[in-house]
Amino acid sequence: MTTSVMSQPSSPDPQFLTGLARRSRLELGAYETTPRTARGHIAQMLEEWSLPQFRDVTVLIATELITNAIQQTAKYAWVVPPPVRLWLRGGPPGVALLVWDAIAAPPAPRAAGETDETGRGLTIVAELSAACGYYPSADPPGKVTWSVITTP
Ligand SMILES: Nc1ncnc2c1ncn2[C@@H]1O[C@H](COP(=O)(O)OP(=O)(O)OP(=O)(O)O)[C@@H](O)[C@H]1O
Ligand SMILES: [Mg+2]
Repeated sequence: MTTSVMSQPSSPDPQFLTGLARRSRLELGAYETTPRTARGHIAQMLEEWSLPQFRDVTVLIATELITNAIQQTAKYAWVVPPPVRLWLRGGPPGVALLVWDAIAAPPAPRAAGETDETGRGLTIVAELSAACGYYPSADPPGKVTWSVITTP
């Protein structure tokens, strides 16, 4: 799939989510160490849910989305720094991963040039996801970036 899906707000298919009965959610501080914490949590949950085949791809996508959320959160001087939030859904059809951050600005996928050292995260997410996107959240204000994974 292409990165263009990240350019328009969209939500995961509710019917697909209905098939993912296993759920977890985690609120994390927006720290540099947070992606590692999230990876450990995801690996643990997918093991418990007997979905280990989705671990590697889910962990990779989570690393990109959570790192982005943290980097964007860290750009601002907060009086009370907001967290990032992670929701994981799983079942036989696959996994859905949703990451909330307090930043209104949408993700801005771009075509990284050969010599660019950054700008590939969302392209990788789009390549590995069956579907991905973002949608704004009003309460609390911010947005959710998400990925649906159906291929281990
Ligand atoms: N959660 C987010 N909130 C706001 N802007 C975002 C978010 N995620 C990504 N972006 C914007 O989209 C751009 C592209 O993100 P992408 O992850 O593809 O590349 P990168 O983070 O710049 O570099 P890389 O992931 O390759 O280290 C970012 O530079 C940033 O401007
Ligand atoms: Mg990135």
